[in-house]
Amino acid sequence: MSKSKLGIIGGSGVYNLPELSGAKWHDIATPWGAPSDALLEGEIDGLPLVFLPRHGRGHAVGPSDINYRANIDALKRVGCTHLVSLSACGSLREDLPPGTFVLVDQFIDRTFKREKSFFGPGCVGHVSMAHPVSPTLVERLEKAAQEAKIPHSRGGTYLAMEGPQFSTLAESRLYRQWGCDVIGMTNMPEAKLAREAELPYATVAMVTDFDSWHPAHGEVDVRQIIAQITDNVEKARKLILTLISDFPREAEPCAGGSDKALEFAILTAPEN
Ligand code: ADE
Repeated sequence: MSKSKLGIIGGSGVYNLPELSGAKWHDIATPWGAPSDALLEGEIDGLPLVFLPRHGRGHAVGPSDINYRANIDALKRVGCTHLVSLSACGSLREDLPPGTFVLVDQFIDRTFKREKSFFGPGCVGHVSMAHPVSPTLVERLEKAAQEAKIPHSRGGTYLAMEGPQFSTLAESRLYRQWGCDVIGMTNMPEAKLAREAELPYATVAMVTDFDSWHPAHGEVDVRQIIAQITDNVEKARKLILTLISDFPREAEPCAGGSDKALEFAILTAPEN
């Protein structure tokens, strides 16, 4: 059994943790190009942690320009055993108001401008995405959210849109009819690539707004999102610290098998 190393993607400012000891930024090169930023490595209570600001410090990398392959590869390369993704999202449900943390368990991928696989010519592989998040990791996040008294909801479908513009009213209504719960621009292809990298992955979708469908809230804009983000970041820090306090120091197997996702995934003959 290997030692756990927890990777945390996203969440502007979540990594400003006074508890993080030996914190150091490292530039990591990958065959896929440069990640969004350097990686911040340190530890809390003996648990090694790696933070990657998804949009870079200063938020200069937009959702369509993120090098998702480089981000996942860099986290795998430094030895992460699990990934927790934190991201802002819009709510498509009345009962998931701003401030709610949704522990998503499904995705609909409507992005179309991004590199989505580590496989390519010369090596053909197909991983299962039926259950895209690690149930073991979600269980731990739910327990942490309960303990930290953070309003949360377990389960939910995240609609990943290309952006950078927000949805039209018709799109927002359509996604509600599809049964989606939250909407965001960054969790795909992140979740697909984590699966290909055999990294157990879970996402905390932090609601900042009601997108455009809610008659009483009008249309979403960046001001609404920023107004909610400070509060969400504070709660995200609490969630991460609570998660860490009970996180196994030896990497535990994923009940969904995401740590062995490539076992039956590769079609290309080994001698190729
Ligand atoms: N991120 C935060 N709110 C969002 C929304 N309404 N749509 C897409 N991405 C978002």
